[in-house]
Amino acid sequence: MEHGTTLTQFIIEQQRRIPGATGDFTSLLNDILTACKKISCTVNRGGLIGVLGSAGSENVQGETQKKLDIISNEMMVNALEWTGHLAGMASEEMEDPLPIPEMYPRGKYLILFDPLDGSSNIDVNLSVGTIFSVLRCPPGVDNPQVEDFLQPGTCQVCAGYALYGPSTMLVLTTGHGVNGFTLDRGIGEFILSHADMQVPAASREFAINMSNQRFWNGAVSRYVEECLQGKEGPRGENFNMRWVASMVAEVHRILTRGGIFMYPADSRPGAEHGKLRLMYEANPMSFIIEQAGGASHTGDERILDLAPEGLHQRVPVILGSREEVERVVAYHDGGDGDRRIA
Ligand code: AHG
Ligand code: MN
Ligand code: MN
Repeated sequence: MEHGTTLTQFIIEQQRRIPGATGDFTSLLNDILTACKKISCTVNRGGLIGVLGSAGSENVQGETQKKLDIISNEMMVNALEWTGHLAGMASEEMEDPLPIPEMYPRGKYLILFDPLDGSSNIDVNLSVGTIFSVLRCPPGVDNPQVEDFLQPGTCQVCAGYALYGPSTMLVLTTGHGVNGFTLDRGIGEFILSHADMQVPAASREFAINMSNQRFWNGAVSRYVEECLQGKEGPRGENFNMRWVASMVAEVHRILTRGGIFMYPADSRPGAEHGKLRLMYEANPMSFIIEQAGGASHTGDERILDLAPEGLHQRVPVILGSREEVERVVAYHDGGDGDRRIA
């Protein structure tokens, strides 16, 4: 079979259209791809190489770390620290930003990542992924501190994810639409397979962890209740539901066939701001979804407009098909967002 455009070729062709582009970003992206290929290979071999199961430690958010959370984090750090394209890195698995070691040159970009998203799925052999967000390091800053990373989502230079599913895919935006690439293991390259991905504006599929229903606010409860009533309810149509518990997989499904994904704030202690992290989950995924014609919101604000307050800050997430997200936001505007059902 004749091979199509490789991801590297695609990015170089995009770079040529930007006057003054130095190629730094293209190189950085190549290094990210290398890390994702290594993670993909390790996730794929799983039980054969003894990487499944808990690491017996906790991350800064008090979540139990899987061995693969730690291994994936190390693979990202090792692939990126030496390159000379980054001024600093931050990760779900590291409390503070990681400075670039003295022996390596510094670059002009910052990266934030969730090295392994959906890691509760590892041991049951379901899809997981890596999410990343690239920012510019503020001018004149050599040793970036937390505040240098706290830029709103609208400042992202690039956002992407790798999905380790039946195929390994890399989905990417640099602010000019969204493109998906599938890893051809035979040649070790990501090949353009899903050009100009678009989220259908309307959809009849929702994704939410229903076990938290009793803790939701009135707006989310109303939306889901109306979906559940199907043809006989106010929507007049039947809805389908999915919950993979891996945001990468949910977002990929929505990019492919539409739908809405919600991880709202709820009234459980510690979930007042939802579960997902703004800087390396919500922001990059919101950038991708908006670039594909969808919408992403907390219920009160557009996620990409939020002024970040912390590296590991959590944020409610409602994203996907535009008309459905707008409907949930309108229910919040109607006052239901303040009403707790529990
Ligand atoms: P991570 O594995 O990086 O901690 O993220 C898991 C996240 C997200 O991917 C998923 O949507 C959500 O947690 C699932 O949460 P529940 O287990 O509460 O359903
Ligand atoms: Mn995650
Ligand atoms: Mn993770």
